Amino acid sequence: MKKRQLGPCVTFFPQPATLVVTRDAAGQSNIMMASWTGIVSKTPPTLAVSLHHSRRTYANISETGLFSVNMVPSHLVVEADFCGLASGTNLDKATITGLNVKDTPNGVPCLTESPLSVECRFTREVALGEYRLTLAEILEINADEAAFDTHGSANVLAFDPLVYLGGLREYWSLGVKQADAYRAGLKLMP
Ligand SMILES: Cc1cc2nc3c(=O)[nH]c(=O)nc-3n(C[C@H](O)[C@H](O)[C@H](O)COP(=O)(O)O)c2cc1C
Repeated sequence: MKKRQLGPCVTFFPQPATLVVTRDAAGQSNIMMASWTGIVSKTPPTLAVSLHHSRRTYANISETGLFSVNMVPSHLVVEADFCGLASGTNLDKATITGLNVKDTPNGVPCLTESPLSVECRFTREVALGEYRLTLAEILEINADEAAFDTHGSANVLAFDPLVYLGGLREYWSLGVKQADAYRAGLKLMP
């Protein structure tokens, strides 16, 4: 296979397209698109999101320590993309998009329209040039009841998560299930 060198750029590994929801100290909500995010430890349950230091979202997390990372159902692609174009410093993104923010019993602002919201409490950050790799304890995960069958199994297509291909700057939906993880490779186990 002949390979092309792309250099150390932002490339098109599939990433989750998520909405990070915060409030400032006065209670004003904000919604930001983030794709550099994911769960990075099971014990302790930890989520990481990399934020440019200029983001309103970063300032809000510095003020309150609480935020949520929300899966985006693909039908909200326009609203979600808008939340990646505009800053909460200048605009009320919830009002413009019609998206709703509601606090959980833990006091974490979450996106009502999201089928999966991860409630987070800031723990520490790592400075990476202009970015801050923000690490957070996962307090709770709220998943849409409608996506579970009677046996309690989740139907991921019901969640319909939006996927972002960074280098191409395109949003996609999930395709077809290929195999079960931690099982498919067992047939090659000596
Ligand atoms: C698809 C997409 C993914 C993005 N991912 C990130 C990210 O992971 N980290 C980041 O700091 N900004 C990211 N951005 C940019 C912010 O969403 C954007 O600068 C936003 O306006 C910041 O909003 P805020 O100032 O209200 O926090 C992304 C934008 C798009 C469109």
